[in-house]
Amino acid sequence: MAKLCVNIDHVATVRQARRAIEPDPVYAAVIAELCPGVAGITLHVREDRRHVQDRDLLTLRQLIKIKLNLELAPVAAMLELAEATRPTQGTLVPERRQEVTTEGGLDVAGQEALIRNAVARLQAAGLLVSLFIDPRSEQIKAARQTGAEAVELNTAAYAESATAEEQRRSRDLLAEALQMANREGLIVHAGHGLTYRNVSAVAALPGIEELNIGHSIVARSIFVGFERAVTEMVQLIERACPAEPAIA
Ligand code: PXP
Repeated sequence: MAKLCVNIDHVATVRQARRAIEPDPVYAAVIAELCPGVAGITLHVREDRRHVQDRDLLTLRQLIKIKLNLELAPVAAMLELAEATRPTQGTLVPERRQEVTTEGGLDVAGQEALIRNAVARLQAAGLLVSLFIDPRSEQIKAARQTGAEAVELNTAAYAESATAEEQRRSRDLLAEALQMANREGLIVHAGHGLTYRNVSAVAALPGIEELNIGHSIVARSIFVGFERAVTEMVQLIERACPAEPAIA
């Protein structure tokens, strides 16, 4: 059954808009951890430190008992930070300075040696490694070759579909990629652009272990509070998930 990992980056975005001390993404993570059904906290320490700061990661590493999933670019400085802090999981993502958010998945097929090296370093530091990729067969095959345990399928194309037909097609591509990744022995996560309105069709796909969702939860929390926003997302995911097979 898919489990929610709450991405707290955009709590930090609001704080950094004023270079202030609030709202504190660490508070958000603690509230999320207290919400039944939340499996993890996700944060992206970007090279330009535009939202999450090193202090957030260090504090969360000491406080959070559920999964702590660090999104990071496969570059020396970020690998060193992951090795020094040792969160539960590292999700390798592409990063470009000018982008508003992560654009597209990691090109694992095009830089297999570099990614394999990054995966090995993170695994040696005790992290479970996931690769954020577009739902394409060549990327899944390449991901398998790197030795990563998991892939996170990029749901941006699904989330940004202009029509219902386009959305159905994107969901079918996600379903095919999911099956292929499972056949390759990879754990499958998914995320990017998921909202209260579009999450159910993805959560309903059998075989997804983790959904990483941030912006939509933080946006809603402004109006209904963080605890309620997180709880409502957990409930939507749980209602959509296919039933677990009964134990004989
Ligand atoms: N997964 C990855 C790899 C991401 O980079 C992001 C954005 O930080 C997310 C999931 C969450 O996306 P959103 O904020 O749109 O829910």
